Amino acid sequence: MSTAQTSDLWWKNAVIYCLDPETFLDTDGDGVGNLDGVTERIDYLAGLGITCLWLMPFYPSPGRDDGYDVTDHYGVDPRLGSLGDLAVLVRSAKDRGLRIIVDLVVNHTSDQHPWFRASRRSVDSPMRDWYVWREEQPAEPHGEPVFPDAEDSIWTCDPKTGEWYLHHFYSHQPDLNIANPDVREEIAKVAGFWLALGVDGFRVDAVPFLLDTDGHVGEVDLDPHGFLKDMRSFVSRRSGHAMLLGEVNLPPKQLRPYFGDQQGDELHMMFAFSVMQAMYLSLARRDARPLARALTRLPEIPDTSQWGIFVRNHDELTLDQLTEKERQEVFDAFGPDPDMQVFGRGLRRRLPAMLDGDDQRIRCVYSLLFSLPGTPVLFYGEEIGMGENLDIPGRLSVRTPMQWSDDRTGGFSTARPSRLRRRPPEGRFGPLAVNVASQQREPDSLLRWMEHVIRRRKETPEFGWGTTSLLDTGNDTVLAHRCDWEGGSVMAVHNLSDVPCVVTIALECEPGSVLRDLLEPGEAPIASNGSCEAELQLESYGFRWFRIVPADHPLAPV
Ligand code: NOJ
Repeated sequence: MSTAQTSDLWWKNAVIYCLDPETFLDTDGDGVGNLDGVTERIDYLAGLGITCLWLMPFYPSPGRDDGYDVTDHYGVDPRLGSLGDLAVLVRSAKDRGLRIIVDLVVNHTSDQHPWFRASRRSVDSPMRDWYVWREEQPAEPHGEPVFPDAEDSIWTCDPKTGEWYLHHFYSHQPDLNIANPDVREEIAKVAGFWLALGVDGFRVDAVPFLLDTDGHVGEVDLDPHGFLKDMRSFVSRRSGHAMLLGEVNLPPKQLRPYFGDQQGDELHMMFAFSVMQAMYLSLARRDARPLARALTRLPEIPDTSQWGIFVRNHDELTLDQLTEKERQEVFDAFGPDPDMQVFGRGLRRRLPAMLDGDDQRIRCVYSLLFSLPGTPVLFYGEEIGMGENLDIPGRLSVRTPMQWSDDRTGGFSTARPSRLRRRPPEGRFGPLAVNVASQQREPDSLLRWMEHVIRRRKETPEFGWGTTSLLDTGNDTVLAHRCDWEGGSVMAVHNLSDVPCVVTIALECEPGSVLRDLLEPGEAPIASNGSCEAELQLESYGFRWFRIVPADHPLAPV
């Protein structure tokens, strides 16, 4: 593929950073972060090296699902700023070469949304069919509620009309009816609106639920993937570089259709949930095989599509694709206290706390994040090793204020700590111990290391673009993978155990090639007896990245 085309497909070699403006920086001292705060710290983000910001929902909302319960898809929550502030942020990001994607939450709305208020008014409301209604209580054809702690059904009877409405999530989040052409039209209008303001695409919320039209009544072709194809072609017409990154937490076998037909005409990207979950099992067992298996189970995808690799997101760290026994192993290793678990399927902790602050092991995991085949997605605060605050209920324990300094609010706000909606943790992972300011001044800090690795990741497009093969290491604790693309070859090796080891890896390479270390100074020898074998030493939780360089290649990347 030509250089011109690869840069068009920017998401193939991007580094995405997810943040919630509400918890990033509060510039007006009211205790709530805001869009201006993100703009204020845009140079920090550019300096970190990320290439794309994912802004979590900033729309007007009663805040019963942290903004995923939207009451106006065309607005900005006044607590966070104004549309003008958003435009300034987009402009500032572009000026630093950063792209912005925003959440497209259209599976459901808040029950306070004017659309739902109109819909529930009467069975004859002109907007009745914007949501999914049943006269009789349905027999749960759509599976379990997503939040079993709060809901025992996905249908709720609305006292106004005595009819039942569908909600896969909370009962205050009624599902929109995508079988209604007016709803489809409105969703396109919403996407077009934000594209017109200059965003570069969307993180599409809850895609399988959005496409679930089982039993919907409507006038249009119910082919749900037809709807996703329409959405893709619409956003691409409006903005040629717009990207759709979908939340599709399904087993690997069910994922491929969401990328669309042949060359990919639905989602551009999907989060690799199965890989994330297997990675935690591998960490718990100190055994690379679950992760290796998960990588081989991912379906082949079109060249222009991409996996989003992540260590944790803003939700519970879900382990729903593991067996009960496997999940228990991860719970035992990383969240044995029931208070660290949520919904019986996930953990509400951040990685550094789960790994007991083991710096080498933490770096090993982030080295995986940046080298596994796909595009890395960071959650704010990961770059400095923030922990969670378990005093905050449920999933919100990991959505604490960004820790900028050792101030009592972590330099997040000038408001009194008691005015903050969510406080940073205290102790080992609190602002006194973990903050941006001190790590910026510390050459060996996690933050400095992240900057270095992010830079290397961008200089190593093979990880994002290449064909991946797993290499035999003869040691179950070590994962070695190689990515080849356009004549370049790189290899990453990770020891998931605390026992140092030496592994021998057979490589296909030209005689006389060398392994140039991409993270540390130096080269590793490749045996020159024609077998092309490399012998590598790995310390406890050690990891190494190499470029396989033919000896006589003066233009090989440095
Ligand atoms: C997925 C989001 O990630 C989660 O935070 C939210 O609660 C649900 N969708 C419902 O919008």
